[in-house]
Amino acid sequence: MAIRLLCIVIGYVFGLFQTSYIYGRLHGIDIRQHGSGNAGTTNMMRTLGRKAGLITFAGDCLKCIIAVNLVRLLFGSSHPDIAPLLAFYAAAGTILGHNFPFYLNFKGGKGIAATAGLVLSFNWIMAVLGIITFFTTFFVTHFVSLGSLLVYAGIMIELVVLGQLGVFGLSQPHLYELYAIGAFLAVMAFWKHRQNIRRLLDGTESKTYLSKKEGE
Ligand code: G3P
Repeated sequence: MAIRLLCIVIGYVFGLFQTSYIYGRLHGIDIRQHGSGNAGTTNMMRTLGRKAGLITFAGDCLKCIIAVNLVRLLFGSSHPDIAPLLAFYAAAGTILGHNFPFYLNFKGGKGIAATAGLVLSFNWIMAVLGIITFFTTFFVTHFVSLGSLLVYAGIMIELVVLGQLGVFGLSQPHLYELYAIGAFLAVMAFWKHRQNIRRLLDGTESKTYLSKKEGE
């Protein structure tokens, strides 16, 4: 149990690196006081432009990839039977640190870029499916929130299907543990997006366009 907790703590520490907050402060703003109030990629793009959004995505995605790989490096060979599970704990910790940074009064982001880091470092099939799901939704609807939520719904299905097919190499009790963390992350993502869901339902969610021209 202690090793799992340690992986969560390692992830949490990496998750504290709030790219949007730091970048925003360097440009004289607190991103949480602008746009949707979210400390994340979409709101940075909305508030400070495409470059700021891209840097935010890269930073938040990378911190999860680093945390996952550090845990693999530290504990992969000593705990080979649960190595993928420990990696997942580290990613969950990163998302928790990103969403609830203690030094920002626990008011962080929604964890989507960090989740991209999770799927990219965890399993290539999940990464490909996540990319297809997100960009198809985005280019059809221009709702980042909807794309993010559909990716999360997909992650839950993919975890169970790939898990049962033996892709992660985990025993059944460890697979149940993996599904439980996945479900926890999905519930957290939907809860974090509750205002987006309300706006999607009443037709007031803001659309995101990659170029100004497109948005006209
Ligand atoms: O990653 C967050 C995104 O899904 C929605 O962000 O700023 O539109 O609430 P935002």
